[in-house]
Amino acid sequence: MFRAYSLYPLRENALSAKTVADIYGQGRNTQKSSGYAPHPYFPAVFNTHNCIDKEMHGRKRRIVSQGFSTAAINSSEPMIINHVQNLCNALMKSIPEPQGLFDDEWSPPQDMASWTNYLTLDVISDLTYGQPFNLLTSPDLRWLVNAIVSGNRRIYLRFAFPALFNVNPSAWYSPDKWIFPKMAAERQRFLEISTKFSEQRIAAEEKMSKRNDIMSALLAAKDPKTGTKLSDAEVWGEAHLMIAAGGDTTSTALASVLFYLSRNAGAHARLNDEIRHTFRSIDRIRQGPLLASCHYLRACLEEAMRLAPPAPGALWREVCAGGAIVDGRHIPAGYDVAVCQYAICHNADYFPDPYRFNPERFLASPTEERSPRDDYFSHAPPAPASTLSPPLSPSTLSLSLSPGPFSPSGTLSTPLPHTPNGTETAPTFAPFLLGPRSCVAKPFAYLEMSLALARLVWLLEFQAADDSGEGRPGCGEVGRERRGEFQIVDMFSSGKVGPGLRWRRRGGM
Ligand code: HEM
Repeated sequence: MFRAYSLYPLRENALSAKTVADIYGQGRNTQKSSGYAPHPYFPAVFNTHNCIDKEMHGRKRRIVSQGFSTAAINSSEPMIINHVQNLCNALMKSIPEPQGLFDDEWSPPQDMASWTNYLTLDVISDLTYGQPFNLLTSPDLRWLVNAIVSGNRRIYLRFAFPALFNVNPSAWYSPDKWIFPKMAAERQRFLEISTKFSEQRIAAEEKMSKRNDIMSALLAAKDPKTGTKLSDAEVWGEAHLMIAAGGDTTSTALASVLFYLSRNAGAHARLNDEIRHTFRSIDRIRQGPLLASCHYLRACLEEAMRLAPPAPGALWREVCAGGAIVDGRHIPAGYDVAVCQYAICHNADYFPDPYRFNPERFLASPTEERSPRDDYFSHAPPAPASTLSPPLSPSTLSLSLSPGPFSPSGTLSTPLPHTPNGTETAPTFAPFLLGPRSCVAKPFAYLEMSLALARLVWLLEFQAADDSGEGRPGCGEVGRERRGEFQIVDMFSSGKVGPGLRWRRRGGM
């Protein structure tokens, strides 16, 4: 563990697996840091992500989780497939028609950071508002991609300089007015459009309630504990959050996996083999046992998120009154503590040869029969005799188990992994985080990523077209020289460019 800096607020940036459990696990004496609080999207209305108070969060989380129930995710599958097909169509359109019988034309370079962003934003807007932004099929709203990046950058700066942002954004001395006017203007445009889409969706609820989507859940769901519903402003805030949280993250994982597959012929061939042998037609690529049997697909996604975590930095938590024991050290109340995702995911003690794309590390054996991650998702431990302090209670555990990527439920909280005898183990790989503030949409994100990657691989071939997304040897920037590493920039989510890929129809299609 090392001290990152200790100005305001007091902070520790920790780098061990045990600290992940001690900081983020269920029942730990930590809460979200004060950096999350300033300026909710709508005045005085916090959402599931930026509220700090644990009781307030519990109520929102119990309601929002209903939007990611098994039934809700199942009914969203045709919608996801529709947008994945739009992506495939857009890429196929970029491929020139063959001139001769034996021509195999490749498309010009396509920037996959943009295309994957369009896909994930179309999916999440359709899921949330019942109408997609249509970024895949029309350029009109593509400015939203940058607007969302600006919003995330602002959150990132807020963490770094909390005092700077601790002022009313409309005050004349607000940094939004003087230092970051472009960022603030883009964020404002995003807020306006998300409010417009929310209003339209709420007005159409009577007709659309059968869709079983997030908005229906937000409008109808009652907190099972308090019996309360969300106010209209809370619904808007949550809907806006879905777009901000659900677009940029999933697209980073997809862009990253395409980058690494385009540069690792062995892994690319093995994935092609798995997908093309598992599914006789593209229409069969749907959730179910066949997709769940694609362990190499899953391992590629895991390895891509390890190498380029969609939330790459330190997700700060404040130690509450009474202090906390973090990896055996007492941390006093008021300190912020965090584990940097990128750093721990590249720790050679946990991931030997950490910069190499090696999906096999997520399989039970190199020849692969069963991914150890299955245990992570489906293994219900007997009453755990935790070795960590404070221990999890069996009742919280049974609440928090989520059974699997393709049959999701129980998204209330992501549990810690367990050994076969039921003991909590310290997690080293947790791109969705753990505990009560982990990602509420993990099963949905896995479904979306799996459908997209499997369908792209089934239908098309791709290869690297240029060096976008690569590191540059000799560039002089520490950590940016590895050519084979997909470059991301920590801006709360991951900023990215590329990879630039060429596409062609799969032979014989
Ligand atoms: C690969 C895809 C994704 C990854 C890696 C990811 C990762 C994360 C992480 C690390 C957090 C914790 C953030 C923090 O502590 O500040 C989080 C929270 C959250 N994510 Fe995701 N996410 C993904 C996709 C999504 C999607 C698709 C949605 C919505 C549809 C979503 C909605 C949320 C929400 C609402 C929270 C706040 C949860 C809470 O505080 O209770 N995420 N996610």
